[in-house]
Amino acid sequence: MCGITVRVGDGSAVPDLLSGLENLEYRGYDSAGIALQNGTGIDVVKSEGKIDRLQEALAGKDLHGAVGIGHTRWSTHGPPTDENAHPHTDCTGKVAVVHNGIIENYRELREELAADGHVFTSETDTEVIPHLIESHLANGADFGSAFREAVDRLAGSYAVAAIAAGTDAVYATRNGSPLVLGQDTDRYFLASDVPAFLDQTDEVVYLQDGDVVRVTETGYTVTDTTGTVVDREVETVDWNAEDVGKAGYDHYMRKEIHEQPTALRQTIRGRIDSFSGDVDLEGFPPGTFTGIDRVHLVAMGTSMHAAMYAAALLTENGVDAEAYLSGEYAVSPPPADSNTLVIAVTQSGETADTLGAIRAIQGTNVRTLALTNVVGSSITRECDDSLYIRAGPEIGVAATKSFSSQVVTLSMLTQRLVQDITGTSVENAGSLLESVSQIPGDVQQILDNSTAAAVAEKYLDSDAFFFLGRNTCYPVALEGALKFKEITYEHAEGFAASELKHGPLALVTENTPVFVLFTGEDDQKIISNAKEVQARGAPVIAVASEASSAAIDQADDVLSIPKTTPKMSGVLGNVQLQLVAYHAAKELGREIDKPRNLAKSVTVE
Ligand code: G6P
Repeated sequence: MCGITVRVGDGSAVPDLLSGLENLEYRGYDSAGIALQNGTGIDVVKSEGKIDRLQEALAGKDLHGAVGIGHTRWSTHGPPTDENAHPHTDCTGKVAVVHNGIIENYRELREELAADGHVFTSETDTEVIPHLIESHLANGADFGSAFREAVDRLAGSYAVAAIAAGTDAVYATRNGSPLVLGQDTDRYFLASDVPAFLDQTDEVVYLQDGDVVRVTETGYTVTDTTGTVVDREVETVDWNAEDVGKAGYDHYMRKEIHEQPTALRQTIRGRIDSFSGDVDLEGFPPGTFTGIDRVHLVAMGTSMHAAMYAAALLTENGVDAEAYLSGEYAVSPPPADSNTLVIAVTQSGETADTLGAIRAIQGTNVRTLALTNVVGSSITRECDDSLYIRAGPEIGVAATKSFSSQVVTLSMLTQRLVQDITGTSVENAGSLLESVSQIPGDVQQILDNSTAAAVAEKYLDSDAFFFLGRNTCYPVALEGALKFKEITYEHAEGFAASELKHGPLALVTENTPVFVLFTGEDDQKIISNAKEVQARGAPVIAVASEASSAAIDQADDVLSIPKTTPKMSGVLGNVQLQLVAYHAAKELGREIDKPRNLAKSVTVE
């Protein structure tokens, strides 16, 4: 976890470092800090808490330096304190380092360094790095060699950047954690993610594992693990700075919920051939998956719910498909062979558990496909192929538009998989694809007419919130509950409707509203489940279209969705549940975009 920034150029580095950190705060906000090369030595200012605390700590300080590094932390080793905040320095205060990731062998290194007389001032794994650099400098190495030799000792995942007194060069490297270089006409940036510097430049270089980059005011050089200079392509990202701002909304989450029609149009654009009624997925023509007889989807969090949605669609169409939590898959991969396709579903492409799942099957003949939002992310390098959901940058910790775009992309991919694997089309393929094409407009209708704010307010004082669904709406029930608990901190659980009477019903009282998702298909069974909770006094909020009129008649409240095919109604119902969670959290005064203890991109296992 954590976000790192580097800025090298003319004038003071402080404003660029701070704005970079603000743009990366979604990666963690337990503490923040910067270090500057001031011409003769290194100045470090850091503070526990969010970036505004760092700004307070900087107020009144006369700092100057055109070369600097910055860090925003999500704690792993050691609690969020000033001492554990990055940048970390060596014994002399002449080397400063920021790090994202985990140094797995830090205990051994720390013991070794301590035995050599190094004094540690934090509980972090990171602090071994400046001390390692220090010891190589003391042995006569120049900064570049000392950096490389120090990094050679590290095991684990890391993106690291370092500065040292007496040189205006920054050295940085990555192994399993993201690091991107940005180049402007008069400045260079390094960061964990492009939004850090997107308001300054859209020209980026995606560094690869093992790359060591040296950046000075006049340019940069990238070398690979062997020290050979390598040429990494400069790419232009097509996100703009406005895409990563709040555009007038109170919260990124609200903005991202409202961006869904646009995001979904981008997701679908050019991918459905309305003439042939087939999908046209770039790089995945008919026959791509011939020979595959089994599909595993691996994912975490919201992406897991999208994976479960896709597994339900595939299974129903005769494909052997299963969704697994990546973290579990990594420790015990189920049987898979060259006829297995493993799809890693991850918005960020950086989730350590999901990277771990793919690494667990590396070296086998299993085919792997990354389904992600972030071009150039780590997962795209780990997998054989990549398919992008094209949702645009998502900043709010609670995933919203990425879920919709994941499900829609997976629905289109399902068509290709079912054709290639079973030789037949998805059931009702024409109407399914037609409903996919209509989803952007349907979501817009929901956004224009939703009564979610009133429903959220009505039930705000409840003891707990339950969500029920079947089939493709089971993962949506889980997602509705996840969204609700993440940002309101209230107790919320999602269940398969059939599971209710096998235990959860014991929790149901008149003070536990139950949100029930209807699809217009087999509604009768789920109406029975709704009646079971109503009989225990619980209010039922039906999330349903006019196709479910019987359910609507019996519900206490209704969150209405446009009529669509049963298989797509979960995407629409989910938008209503996003809005309920958002409005409830807002009423409760929660920190919607940065819920406590959570981070957008979890880059530790
Ligand atoms: C974290 C985030 C979730 C996200 C999950 C998986 O837990 O808070 O919003 O769904 O990671 O992230 P990914 O980037 O792999 O989709």
